[in-house]
Amino acid sequence: MKRYDVALIGLGVMGQSLARNIASQKFRVLTYNRTTKKAVQFIEEYGNDYLDYKANLKALVKELKTPRKIILMVPAGKPVDDMIQSLAKLLSKNDILIDAGNSLFKETIRRNELLKKKGIHFVGMGVSGGEEGALRGPSIMPGCDAKVWKSIRPILTKIAAKDFKGKPCVTHVGTDGAGHYVKMVHNGIEYAVMQMMAEAYEMLKSIYGLKPNEIANVFSKYNRGRLKSYLFEISVPVLSRKDDFKKGYLIDFILDKAGQKGTGRWTVIDALERGAVIPTIAEAVFARSLSSNKTERIVLSKLYKTRESKNLLSRKAFVKQLESALYAGMISCYAQGFELIRLAAEQQNWKLNFAEIARIWEGGCIIRADLLNFIHKAFASKRGKPVHLFMIGDIKKALQKDAPALSEVVSLGARSNVPIAAMATAHAYLYGMTSSVVPANFIQGLRDFFGAHTYERADKKGIFHTPWSNLDL
Ligand code: 6PG
Repeated sequence: MKRYDVALIGLGVMGQSLARNIASQKFRVLTYNRTTKKAVQFIEEYGNDYLDYKANLKALVKELKTPRKIILMVPAGKPVDDMIQSLAKLLSKNDILIDAGNSLFKETIRRNELLKKKGIHFVGMGVSGGEEGALRGPSIMPGCDAKVWKSIRPILTKIAAKDFKGKPCVTHVGTDGAGHYVKMVHNGIEYAVMQMMAEAYEMLKSIYGLKPNEIANVFSKYNRGRLKSYLFEISVPVLSRKDDFKKGYLIDFILDKAGQKGTGRWTVIDALERGAVIPTIAEAVFARSLSSNKTERIVLSKLYKTRESKNLLSRKAFVKQLESALYAGMISCYAQGFELIRLAAEQQNWKLNFAEIARIWEGGCIIRADLLNFIHKAFASKRGKPVHLFMIGDIKKALQKDAPALSEVVSLGARSNVPIAAMATAHAYLYGMTSSVVPANFIQGLRDFFGAHTYERADKKGIFHTPWSNLDL
């Protein structure tokens, strides 16, 4: 019997969807799952000439065409190392191991080095799009050597989603951890975009008193315009679905405590270590952590009367301004994400093409949106070079038109005491990065006074310290 083109290990939701997708493209896939029962059930339901399973790794490896290609879809962390350990002794030189989970890029770099010593190629591959995306076509972000990319490209280009021109949403992102890094930043941007949408929802609800179905109508209208995106598309059913147990909308019964598997947090920790500026992504992570303090928030809410509905705009005018504010806010957020990627690429010696990264996010992934096509074209006008997004003409035009609305919405939200940290930091990043002078001179003065930390001068070279004395007080 013809041998198998690829193996997929880990039949969770994403693993099952990806295996079915690969088989549907007429590649023969052999699957394996730690709990054999799950594999048996999966193959009973979906098995065919292109899709089968093996109950043990040795039998699985034996059936693969060489050089073998094995995709891991197991939880990040120790499960990946355990699986690598079990497989390494079964694989031969030039075989390819692909970690398609949300692994931390530093782990991917370590694993790559370890396996290289055994002549085994390792790919850290970001896969975005959730269960549906993995089945119908995800956005795929592989990090590996160029020659390994050539070997896995035929399968990946077949199973990926399509961009606005019908090209596969997959590219050779870069070497070693670059793929997982770009996926991590994708998730950081996902957090920030979702938080800005949540703040828009909150302002429409608590300042203008809109009901969930009315907010759904507003977001549906946004989704018919330049904010068209997967997240705005799914926000409509999430907002308008009636509850199964009680009269009213499901959204009003969902507890306001957000979960987070960790990729957003990793993004912020990495940015802080690199000195990158991603305030909106950071605030989105903090907002999720703040939401977890539900008990404390209830106690404090009784001590403080907070919300005031100071809506200085008509509802119609606000909905229009809000659309503009979100558009500018999202551009600010993407600028932050790409700046982090630029800094990481410099420090990790990755050669990345920003136009390609934006292009493969046009389809399949959770942040897929019309805006990504705009950003893709903007970077393409600079031949994919990692320039700051704000430097690009068309982006500058959009910001000059829409940034005033971001200022208006942030001030209105603040005046109504609505916490809108994501939008406010998108505003702060935009106006901070476009200010030639910022109040850091004041910081330097204070630091020099209390700690003699010295400062530079704006008018001449050198390092200075003023002999402050408490007599100055
Ligand atoms: C994707 C998603 C996915 C992520 C889940 C949960 O790109 O398909 O981003 O990778 O793990 O959305 O993430 P959080 O629990 O961190 O929100």
